[in-house]
Amino acid sequence: MERFTLARALVLEAGAALRRSSLQKEEVRYKTGYQDLVTRWDQETEQFLRREILSAFPEDAIVGEEYPASPGGTEGAVWYLDPIDGTTNFVSQHRNYAVSVGCWKGGEPQFGLVLDVEREALYWAKAGSGAWRDETPIRTAPRREVSELLLTAPGVVNTFLKEHPRRAGLLRLAGQVRGVRCLGSVALELCAVAAGEADVFVTLRSCPWDHNAARVILTEAGGSLCTLEGGPLPLEERTAVLAANSPQVLRQVREEFLEEQGLTGGAG
Ligand code: IPD
Ligand code: CA
Ligand code: CA
Repeated sequence: MERFTLARALVLEAGAALRRSSLQKEEVRYKTGYQDLVTRWDQETEQFLRREILSAFPEDAIVGEEYPASPGGTEGAVWYLDPIDGTTNFVSQHRNYAVSVGCWKGGEPQFGLVLDVEREALYWAKAGSGAWRDETPIRTAPRREVSELLLTAPGVVNTFLKEHPRRAGLLRLAGQVRGVRCLGSVALELCAVAAGEADVFVTLRSCPWDHNAARVILTEAGGSLCTLEGGPLPLEERTAVLAANSPQVLRQVREEFLEEQGLTGGAG
């Protein structure tokens, strides 16, 4: 079985198990604190994905959220697994969470799959073949004026409330776009931009397993991503992420709101 076919089957199977799941209070634990949760289901889902991938492709490397990376051989692909992206939503809402699986080889994207578990919507892309939601092709929205853009950010507190060098620029952006949405899942929010349901995405903090699947989907749908400094997004490191419905909007937002001279500008 080829990697994509296996990945698709595993994501759908994991999603079906999560939809059926119920959660006891004692199955939720704090990782770094009360805003950083892990459940029995995060761990079991990642174990399931790792076990099945490695039994089919023992040379492949795995980078997942809940367990140490397994290094793999020199020829294999690298898989980025987030068993539940949006654990807080999973715990508190039982909706708006995703299973996210991305695969890269030699630093090049192969495919990305993001399952919106409760909506039963599978976003996916193979490099060079466009982006899809289930059987329907998706594209980013053609909106280009700042006043018609929808901004999505997974974390209100970190992005807009805490002091950081780009806070003033982000507040100014928030005041000039059509609206701001915060869903609480990096993967689903990047897919929302890919599907034309949002236009700009920003987070100050994202890990490889959060964005390395969805970034393949967004790029294939016509979108673009970079660091807040405008550099290419690293594959292996935790990073801030700016993404947009097009390279033009990405450049415009970065230059108008996040450049060095914008760092001191006030909100308004
Ligand atoms: C988190 C979600 C959240 C984002 C955090 C991520 P998790 O992933 O994507 O929206 O703000 O930075 O860590 O912990 O639910 O897998
Ligand atoms: Ca995540
Ligand atoms: Ca997770």
